[in-house]
Amino acid sequence: MPGTDYVPPLYGVLSDDEWAIVEGWYDDTERADSIGEINVPAMSFVQGLVMGSAIRTIVQLGHYYGYSTLLVGFMLRAMGNGGRLVSIDIDPKATEFTQKWVDRAGLSEYVHLYLGDSADQRSLDVAVDELGGMAQLIILDSSHQYAHTVRELDLWVPRMEPSTLMLLHDTSTFATAFDTGGAGGVQKALDDWLPGHPEAAFLSLNRQVSQFDSAGDLAYKYGCGLGILQRLR
Ligand SMILES: C[S@@+](CC[C@H](N)C(=O)[O-])C[C@H]1O[C@@H](n2cnc3c(N)ncnc32)[C@H](O)[C@@H]1O
Repeated sequence: MPGTDYVPPLYGVLSDDEWAIVEGWYDDTERADSIGEINVPAMSFVQGLVMGSAIRTIVQLGHYYGYSTLLVGFMLRAMGNGGRLVSIDIDPKATEFTQKWVDRAGLSEYVHLYLGDSADQRSLDVAVDELGGMAQLIILDSSHQYAHTVRELDLWVPRMEPSTLMLLHDTSTFATAFDTGGAGGVQKALDDWLPGHPEAAFLSLNRQVSQFDSAGDLAYKYGCGLGILQRLR
């Protein structure tokens, strides 16, 4: 991050072996030309929630090549409280790559990958089965398409237990461009979905950002935005 000179706690908690895994993962993804991971500000938010509140059951919608999966796996292992992550992605190549790194990192006890559509009932059933109930935290970072995001909200939020949380990546105005159909992406999906769902409280960090700015004057230093949804009842 420009203008800083410290190791964020996200990386500071890693053992030497875990550092080596992350370095190896960066090299491997560069070779595979598969850069597209979530970022340090968002993952630091996840770390604060997971490690600060001993969250044990997590679902991720969209793992891509495994950056967030590895980091959440490291958190769960460090906590040692039997926590598990189920991560769902529709891309077989990305899932195979992520599984390779989960195995290499020795995280298979903590992480279960599922190949499927994150808006599909089967994905939710697998997650509930694997976790022994609904997750306390859902991290949504998948298609960024308007209609698919609405389907994800319809599928997952009604099943969330009161007080549990969903983090949605890419909720800013800038990130609406990630919707290849030009339908408004995650932001518009939430704008249309939330009014009919008073059982969900919601805050969108950096919603207003329309030009990408990874540092600048933003307090939450990522221009793609982050949505925080809590199930109220
Ligand atoms: C931005 S990447 C996720 C990055 C990941 N969270 C990380 O930190 O590395 C989005 C992922 O969503 C997946 N995806 C897209 N459409 C999907 C769908 N319908 N169901 C499940 N996953 C989907 C893509 O295959 C891709 O791997």
